[in-house]
Amino acid sequence: MSRDHYRIFSPGQIGSMEISNRLVRSATWDPCLFYDYKMTSEVVDHYRRLAQGGVGMIITGGFPVYEETSSEGNGSPSQAREGVLHYHDLRVEGIEKLPGAVHQAAPCLKIVAQLELGRIECGPSAISSPFSTEKSRALTQGEISDIASCYIEAIEDMRLAGFDGVQLHAAHRSLLGNFLSPYTNHRTDGYGGSVENRTRFLREIVSGARALVGDFPILVKMNGTDYVPGGIDLENFPTLASEVARTGVDAIEVSGGIWDCLVRSEAELGFRPVPSPEAHTRLHRLEQQSYFAAYAERLDLDIPVILVGGNRNVELLEQILQRGRVDFVALCRPFISEPDLPNRWRLGVGKPQTDCISCNSCLYAMLEHPGSDRPRLVSCVFKHDKSLYKEAQHWLITWVDKNKL
Ligand SMILES: Cc1cc2nc3c(=O)[nH]c(=O)nc-3n(C[C@H](O)[C@H](O)[C@H](O)COP(=O)(O)O)c2cc1C
Repeated sequence: MSRDHYRIFSPGQIGSMEISNRLVRSATWDPCLFYDYKMTSEVVDHYRRLAQGGVGMIITGGFPVYEETSSEGNGSPSQAREGVLHYHDLRVEGIEKLPGAVHQAAPCLKIVAQLELGRIECGPSAISSPFSTEKSRALTQGEISDIASCYIEAIEDMRLAGFDGVQLHAAHRSLLGNFLSPYTNHRTDGYGGSVENRTRFLREIVSGARALVGDFPILVKMNGTDYVPGGIDLENFPTLASEVARTGVDAIEVSGGIWDCLVRSEAELGFRPVPSPEAHTRLHRLEQQSYFAAYAERLDLDIPVILVGGNRNVELLEQILQRGRVDFVALCRPFISEPDLPNRWRLGVGKPQTDCISCNSCLYAMLEHPGSDRPRLVSCVFKHDKSLYKEAQHWLITWVDKNKL
């Protein structure tokens, strides 16, 4: 039976952007773009297929705005770049082909470019991770302003390229996320300490961009929990999110997890500690799904809230949307497995659960790109390559023991 009358298939609004339904494709990295920083027809076709599948809004994989690289590399054109790189050095040639193709395939669909940092060895404070002997270097105030300018330039460029909005990646272990979290931000200057100070970097980017782009939608993805003691958690998240909303952004996508948490046990975490903590595995039962709903539903903001993480069953998602605290639901891995999932759900074809088994083999293929030096487009390993699936599952369950110090 058709689900046309469901709230999930009703229109919604984010800032100045009208969205035809409540289903969002959450950011999914396209590593192949960053081999030689050129838009390829393979990537454009991939997004065109997604656009035809009925989703309301697509958030692209993260585009780097700033990078600080050492001389180590694998010989690829991207790895050969050295030193401090600004947005104009990192701009993907032909990026405008992406919104162009998506809008042609589905004129009502919105496409938002995610912005994040490229490879960097610096952060708000000099801190280490349980998986690296290297300590990150604390950024100077001059470097913070330099990075903010890169964000502002990238936001304006994405608008000119034809995107409908941008999303600032401030979740997981992103640089902006590291500024937001008291676990990674130990600064004693105006960028650390109070909630107001920890959101200052974000506020400077948003207010600087507003002067150029007006009401062009600027979204943020942030953690509701870091899953580590001393980090963002259910108690301190609502205050932090309210301060983030006050920076002038148009929507908040609620995610969670930083890789440091993977050294904790399954009993402590409540999920299997495998890469990656924002993407839990084993989500067959409804009670394991939509695992950041309790965080998103704590919020009482004047801007829309997008829930991401383990959204797998259309009936459960409809219940969450009906409760009224969440405005949109975002999915990543299910779209890798089923790009036309929204159309299938809307028409009531098949089961209410996605085919995606949340095995994270796609992550292995993305991060390791086995069998090729060149990164490839992310695809569903479980569906398309059973022997790679076995290899990926081995990687997944041994990753923490192999990498923790
Ligand atoms: C292959 C893959 C690539 C991802 N790339 C990004 C990314 O570029 N930016 C980001 O914020 N999150 C990224 N994520 C996280 C997802 O956007 C999402 O938060 C997470 O997978 C949980 O949603 P899901 O259960 O629907 O997969 C990625 C996840 C996967 C599995």
